[in-house]
Amino acid sequence: MKPLRIALTKGRLEKKTIELLEEIGLDCTQVREKGRRLILTVGNGEIEVVLAKAADVITYVENGVCDLGVVGKDTIMENGSHFFEILDLGFGRCRFALACKKGTDFFSGYQAKTIASKYPNVARQYFEGRGMDVRIIKIEGSVELAPLVGLADGIVDIVETGSTLKENGLEVVETIAQISARLIANTASLKMRKQEIESLAGRLEDCIRNREEKYI
Ligand code: PRP
Repeated sequence: MKPLRIALTKGRLEKKTIELLEEIGLDCTQVREKGRRLILTVGNGEIEVVLAKAADVITYVENGVCDLGVVGKDTIMENGSHFFEILDLGFGRCRFALACKKGTDFFSGYQAKTIASKYPNVARQYFEGRGMDVRIIKIEGSVELAPLVGLADGIVDIVETGSTLKENGLEVVETIAQISARLIANTASLKMRKQEIESLAGRLEDCIRNREEKYI
């Protein structure tokens, strides 16, 4: 039987996903000792892990070369969803927020505002929902810089601890959405390999529920 192939978002989510897979009893030694290898075996070979950048995880799953993926809700919201979101994994918690320079009233005035964001689709949707006409500028990194140097009136970005905003004299105006890591599945895989996927998702869900109960 072909292994179930899972695309994992490299970096922070990767570590947390591996911890979760180990907690349900799967051997992740190959991933922990991966070096520069990108395709790794997990468990007794029933699962294969592919490491990729967040947006690429979606591409691999949508195109059916990976059956499952672990990716942040932020990436899902920005990149659309021609796949099934099957489980909230409970880690990688943060939020999308609109932020601006401390002490400025973002919503005052009639002039169209300029917004900088790494997530232009999320930003556009949010302002459309508020019926506001804004100009959106795509920034690739450290978007907090944009209002400080006068490029934008505000930013739409991820806030986790809030310290990046605080240390740069910015503040949250409004929370747009809560974010956490999600398990996603290719639509065809979900039909063809239903039992395997449901069994894995069920084990992960039990494990997440146990973790949450410990903190209540
Ligand atoms: C994210 C986000 C903020 C920061 C917020 O960037 O874009 O800059 O984290 O975290 P905080 O609220 O805990 O300060 P990330 O560190 O992922 O780096 P990036 O700019 O390379 O995306």
